[in-house]
Amino acid sequence: MQKIRKAVFPVAGLGTRFLPATKAMPKEMLPVVDRPLIQYVVDEAREAGIEHFIFVTGRNKGVIEDHFDRQFELEVTLRERNKQSDLELLDRNLPDAGAVSFTRQQSPLGLGHAVWCARELVGREPFALLLPDVLVQAKKGCLAQMIEAYQATGKASNVIAVEQIAPELAHSYGVVGVGKKNGKAFEITSMVEKPPRGTAPSNLIITGRYVLQPEIFDLLESQERGAGGEIQLTDAMIRLSHKQPFFGLEFDGRTFDCGSKLGFLSANVAYALDRDDLAPAFRQELANLLGKA
Ligand code: G1P
Repeated sequence: MQKIRKAVFPVAGLGTRFLPATKAMPKEMLPVVDRPLIQYVVDEAREAGIEHFIFVTGRNKGVIEDHFDRQFELEVTLRERNKQSDLELLDRNLPDAGAVSFTRQQSPLGLGHAVWCARELVGREPFALLLPDVLVQAKKGCLAQMIEAYQATGKASNVIAVEQIAPELAHSYGVVGVGKKNGKAFEITSMVEKPPRGTAPSNLIITGRYVLQPEIFDLLESQERGAGGEIQLTDAMIRLSHKQPFFGLEFDGRTFDCGSKLGFLSANVAYALDRDDLAPAFRQELANLLGKA
């Protein structure tokens, strides 16, 4: 089976839900504890064996490119001051030379259109897609779990990470129908983007991590606008599912929807509590705050 070498990160969104923080700064650069959101997602991809990182950006997203480059003046200053551990930290976050590509989505036409913009950079091979709004806190990264499940299918299939949600929230997501079990995964029998309330085929939503075959690009090319007037990835996946198998994986891990304020705040708390250097003092501080609430 062909190795999954490339990952696509759609980062063109405007981030209006976080204004004014995102007026001049991309939402993907909002920090969770001390790392920008995009760094977590890139690290998850790297852990899963991804070798090439493809960003679909838009206007005002230049600092994402800078973040994955060297910062010469900073490095010189840190070296002069003998800040070895800071230098090592910066080095660890740096992708290999030539391992990062950027392309632009020129108009905000939807997730399906953003993915289609990456077609030339991906080429004709299966690839991973990670939505940087979604953080997954897990022992083994969500994408690594998915690639394992993908390899276990033994064929050119598509795998989508799914998770349970309260039925009254399903209308805000893509939702899948559940078929036969297949190892850790299951066959997806149907998909629908933003189902009207009460019509979702299950309580399993699409989480924001995908392993997709390149034929998705051919379908996206002619994809009509769907929910919200946008070109929806889910609609193209529905068409692809008529020709290729789709599997869902209920991964191990905890998800934070950092596209919402509540999810973003929860992520900050959860990731801080997971840090040995911060957790003891932070736990105390939280207790103080809650005591006063
Ligand atoms: C997108 C996908 C949707 C998925 C969601 C996960 O929606 O279209 O299927 O459930 O991400 O966050 P969006 O958040 O762009 O509305």
